[in-house]
Amino acid sequence: KVFEVNWDAEAAEKGGFEHFMLKEIYEQPKAMRDTMTGRVNAEEKTINFPELNWTAEELQGINKIFIVACGTAYHAGIVGKYYLEQLARIPVEVDIASEFRYRSPLIDGNSLCIVISQSGETSDTLAALREAKRLGARTVGVTNVVGSSVAREADQVIYTYAGPEIAVASTKAYTTQLLAMFMFAIYVGRLRNTLDEAYSQELVAGLASIPEQIHVMLEDVDQIKVFAREYGSCEDAFFLGRSLDYAVALEGALKLKEISYIHAEAYAAGELKHGTLALIVSGVPVIVLATQEDVYDKTVSNLQEVKAREAVVIAIGFEGDTVLANHANHVIYIPRTGKYHAPLLAVLPLQ
Ligand code: M6R
Repeated sequence: KVFEVNWDAEAAEKGGFEHFMLKEIYEQPKAMRDTMTGRVNAEEKTINFPELNWTAEELQGINKIFIVACGTAYHAGIVGKYYLEQLARIPVEVDIASEFRYRSPLIDGNSLCIVISQSGETSDTLAALREAKRLGARTVGVTNVVGSSVAREADQVIYTYAGPEIAVASTKAYTTQLLAMFMFAIYVGRLRNTLDEAYSQELVAGLASIPEQIHVMLEDVDQIKVFAREYGSCEDAFFLGRSLDYAVALEGALKLKEISYIHAEAYAAGELKHGTLALIVSGVPVIVLATQEDVYDKTVSNLQEVKAREAVVIAIGFEGDTVLANHANHVIYIPRTGKYHAPLLAVLPLQ
């Protein structure tokens, strides 16, 4: 079957950027708009997935969701778990695809298996998808590539519409995966009535501002360049956060390892004291994400613990935050947004 792919030649060129990764970072406002097109109704502040067209009845049998993916897509899956459990109130397990089929997953006809894959061709992810189907689960593929194997083999597909991602290091693929999972959780939450209309409208209104907020952030990167110069020769770095900030920290650590060849680890901020604190020595850069209001005080107290060990703390928090500057060595401020929206912005300085 022939598929028409609407990517143009310009999309596959560097367009004046030094390298593809940078270009793709800067493409995120457009990529986010494209992911929302046809799904976000800005006037009514609602979400629809015409390609799924689900009804509340169809969802009644689903009592568990499995999200399976590799690497960055796996990290997007972890964020997706928070979204789906909190907004749609369905238990979610997130699996690394290369582990999934070897652990005899307890998956059946009442399970929904979501596989996330930018390329739609990662062999472990495909194998996991096939295993989930063999066990009778309903499957949804979240992918960027039209007509890819995931798109063809999953029962239904959610395209992320990020445009071609040429750089090996994922950037716009990740943020559009987060956005797709966020919209999907709102969609399912409304169908299951676990999410009330007013709150869902508030969430959708927040989403509409995201592309412009990203655009503004990308216009002002001087501070990031200074940090890169100052700390780019370090050997280790740590990323800390709680809740959704922890999920984003995982992706930050992967990006730093992959692109800068610096050993980096992400920790749930409260877990650090259970052994790893020994590695926090004088001068080690520790990036602390502090965007989640419900765990904010606890995060600040973890920040103080690492500061006491003379780590160099770079905090990431919202504009208008007056606390972080009193404790961290440096603060990167991101535009204020909702707690579920925060990962979409907080990951940018890490990229
Ligand atoms: O194409 P996929 O999303 O299935 O690829 C999975 C991983 O290999 C990928 O996310 C990888 O971790 C990133 N490109 C790293 O930046």
